[in-house]
Amino acid sequence: MNKLTNEAGLLVSIYQELFLQFAKVSGGTIESFNTLLCIGIILVSLYITKGSPTKKKVQRKAPNNKDREYGHWMADHTFTTPTPPPFKNWSHELTKPLPYRAFKHNYHITMGIRNMDWASWFELDNEWMKYHEEKVRRIKTRGTELYETSPKATEAAWELLDEMTSYLPNRYPSMFKREGTTIENLVTKEIFELDRSKSTEDPILMCAKMVQDDLAIIIEHEDGNYSLESGAIILAGFWRFRDKFQMKLNEIHTSGDVPKFNEKLKPGMTRFFQRLTLDKPVVRNNYFIQTDDNLGWSSSIGDEDVKEVGWNTAQEATNVDQLYFRSERQSLRRLPKSGAVVFTIRTYFVPMVKLCKEPYIPRRLLDGINSWTEDVKEYKGYAKYKDALLPYLEKRALEQEQGGLAPADEPNVYPF
Ligand code: HEM
Repeated sequence: MNKLTNEAGLLVSIYQELFLQFAKVSGGTIESFNTLLCIGIILVSLYITKGSPTKKKVQRKAPNNKDREYGHWMADHTFTTPTPPPFKNWSHELTKPLPYRAFKHNYHITMGIRNMDWASWFELDNEWMKYHEEKVRRIKTRGTELYETSPKATEAAWELLDEMTSYLPNRYPSMFKREGTTIENLVTKEIFELDRSKSTEDPILMCAKMVQDDLAIIIEHEDGNYSLESGAIILAGFWRFRDKFQMKLNEIHTSGDVPKFNEKLKPGMTRFFQRLTLDKPVVRNNYFIQTDDNLGWSSSIGDEDVKEVGWNTAQEATNVDQLYFRSERQSLRRLPKSGAVVFTIRTYFVPMVKLCKEPYIPRRLLDGINSWTEDVKEYKGYAKYKDALLPYLEKRALEQEQGGLAPADEPNVYPF
């Protein structure tokens, strides 16, 4: 723009010279001056807003991936992920997890996506170390059951590593330092090699060791569908990476019996992924009730190594102390060079008894659960904890209401 303004300035000087010459010949009346001035102003403003014709010719057109043939993405070098500001006073010991309470009085199956602020791509807190230790323990015992990158997603996984190692030191400078071809975790002293020719680790695994989230990369096919081609799914609780690796997104959901997937979610999701642009990341939240306190794998639905697992084989919970509120905050964004889509899954995990001490929560959760349809009840394992949970929620809700908490004053601040 500065260059353009200088060029416009030059144009004005030429114009002034022309006017002086004109004035000499015409006698320089006020009318002739005004007319010339108006024409001049119009010419200069047109120049500034449109740019010079020569400039337009040399401008490189960005690849128009909007009109792409599915499965054929052209690297977009014009897009840069916004650099996040440092998280003020963030501490891996003191910063508390965000209190996502992502349920409403009425439950509906919807995509439930909202725009995401770039700064919040990864949310880290004082449970980082606990999550990290659990991840490292599970990787040691289960290895590549929990992660892999197929050749289709190799470029995307390296691109994700590059994006994350740009984001993390900017957002959490007290934990991450990028120097040369490495990034160091200043708390654990882990050092990750980012140079592909020197590194021996799967990039998706390196990424997953830096954050509390599980990570997945989905790749577009020529028919417009997406499949899971890279992932480090280490703390998923209710599903296993190996069961879904390289599956198409639709099949991932139908094989998991996600309620009303075909009728209510599939059409919107298909459109959403085909149209997802680089600059519009999104988030969504969900929630589950778990009948044990294992973050990595919910052992009460079955042994992780047994082929068929699910709520139908689970033991019934007898006491509210066994129950945990499990809620995921998921984000989705597209990577500019590969065009792959990154799916992050951050689990928040709170004992039910602790959760119910919060104002309005017992009534809202009770109403929400009571509004589940039969298919949702089945998917979420309702039968296995309803007797331990529902009377407890009712009791806590009444206590709060009798203590003066007026339902009409409840703040409406989803997902909190
Ligand atoms: C807009 C994007 C998406 C929407 C709206 C969506 C929706 C859902 C819903 C409604 C469920 C049931 C649990 C819940 O309430 O969250 C679910 C489960 C699941 N989703 Fe998605 N999903 C999306 C993207 C993805 C992606 C990109 C993956 C890639 C791995 C994925 C993998 C899964 C898996 C593995 C489950 C669990 C299935 C099971 O219980 O076995 N989803 N999804």
